[in-house]
Amino acid sequence: MLLLVLASTLLYFSSAPTDFLKSCCTPSVETISEQPHTKEQNSDRGSDKNALSPSSDTLGDQTARLKNVNNNSNHTIYTQITSINGMDNQRSINSSESPKSEGDLDKISNNKLSNMTGEKANLSSVSGEPLHCPTMPPNLEGPVAVNTSSADLAAEQRRHPELLPGGRWRPAQCRARQKVAVIVPYRSRASQLPIFLRHMHPFLQKQQLDYGIFVVEQAGKREFNRATLLNIGALESMKLYPYDCFIFHDIDLLPEDDRNLYACREQPLHLSVAYDTFNYKLPYETFFGGANAISVGHFRQLNGFSNKFWGWGGEDDDMANRIKHHGLSISRNPADIARYTMIKHKKEKRSPLRSKMVREGPSRFTSDGLNSLQYRVLDMQLLRLYTWIHAEPLNK
Ligand SMILES: *[C@@H]1O[C@H](CO)[C@@H](O)[C@H](O)[C@H]1NC(C)=O
Ligand SMILES: *[C@@H]1O[C@H](CO)[C@@H](O)[C@H](O)[C@H]1NC(C)=O
Ligand SMILES: *[C@@H]1O[C@H](CO)[C@@H](O)[C@H](O)[C@H]1NC(C)=O
Ligand SMILES: *[C@@H]1O[C@H](CO)[C@@H](O)[C@H](O)[C@H]1NC(C)=O
Ligand SMILES: *[C@@H]1O[C@H](CO)[C@@H](O)[C@H](O)[C@H]1NC(C)=O
Ligand SMILES: *[C@@H]1O[C@H](CO)[C@@H](O)[C@H](O)[C@H]1NC(C)=O
Repeated sequence: MLLLVLASTLLYFSSAPTDFLKSCCTPSVETISEQPHTKEQNSDRGSDKNALSPSSDTLGDQTARLKNVNNNSNHTIYTQITSINGMDNQRSINSSESPKSEGDLDKISNNKLSNMTGEKANLSSVSGEPLHCPTMPPNLEGPVAVNTSSADLAAEQRRHPELLPGGRWRPAQCRARQKVAVIVPYRSRASQLPIFLRHMHPFLQKQQLDYGIFVVEQAGKREFNRATLLNIGALESMKLYPYDCFIFHDIDLLPEDDRNLYACREQPLHLSVAYDTFNYKLPYETFFGGANAISVGHFRQLNGFSNKFWGWGGEDDDMANRIKHHGLSISRNPADIARYTMIKHKKEKRSPLRSKMVREGPSRFTSDGLNSLQYRVLDMQLLRLYTWIHAEPLNK
């Protein structure tokens, strides 16, 4: 087992500078496990296990509830997914690196796609390719039920036979307008993970996205470094599939309205405008925390997130400053759409250094980010509900 892990560790040193290699071979044994979240998952198993069996479709009964959401004259603000191919979204973050667009993953997907719903993709376009999905997904409901009661990972797996390995999916009848990597930084939130996944897969599928969920779990004993985990998720996801758009998403936030589209726009998009825990009000004008969507091209232009924010807080403000510094602006959906429920948890201790780090941030925008990112991947697995990336940030 240990040998296997060491071997796979080495596999992921594709472009590793020498100091990665120095520390590569001392993974701490307790952080390595094949089934990442088993321990806590068991103790979190709720009494509602049976309710999640494949036969009980907790979302199915809502479909008729909000038929007329698209009648709102302002719907174009938030219910169109346009292709962002015209934007600066080269296929890879690092254009010298070619993603495996025709790789094994994609072959798996193609095979499985035609079997997914029992229907053949619509091949009536001239090129023989399925036509683009409509800019406005047809089956949106508006407000959706948010369920924060405990969930069971195994039961959720059984509920999602349609997923491709690694928590990926794309519509069978039409070609999704954007390829979206949902990147979730993770450490010790085993009870929240299945709740998040239970909510997000149906939500994203209704939006007709070609998406994958990437859970990036921090290894090592250092303080949590959310921003570096997001950088790692961005780079690693691009090695698997040519994504157009990154959604950076906290695991404890559940979107309440499916018109809040998880796709990139001409400007970086702040998705989580209004939280229940903040009385559904934006806490301050430049707030960019929680969940946001940044195109691959913009993310590269911004040099990703800073790697220097250890501990809780500040990295999202630094990103807001990066956006402004690069002449971009934060866009948002209306607060009555961009609503979120936060799953309750103990408050994290804030980093005392965060304000100073944010103030000094601008001097580091060009030197601190994707181009200075150092990490090692201990393990990566294509699980049914998500791609698990176990990685240790190595920046100072
Ligand atoms: C939440 O999900 C559980 C199963 O995971 C189910 O038993 C319960 O009825 C759901 N609650 C709501 C409010 O939908
Ligand atoms: C939808 O919009 C049309 C035209 O504005 C209007 O006639 C109709 O009553 C609206 N439907 C609903 C359910 O609001
Ligand atoms: C549409 O948007 C305008 C400007 O943002 C706003 O004043 C108006 O109230 C909105 N209408 C609806 C129906 O949301
Ligand atoms: C898809 O279905 C066909 C028959 O309907 C079957 O032969 C094939 O093995 C299936 N492929 C996959 C990947 O399940
Ligand atoms: C395929 O797409 C064409 C063009 O949009 C449409 O006319 C046709 O009805 C579609 N066929 C199926 C089976 O969905
Ligand atoms: C891309 O990769 C090359 C070679 O590994 C490296 O020299 C270059 O700095 C990288 N560019 C970016 C933007 O990371």
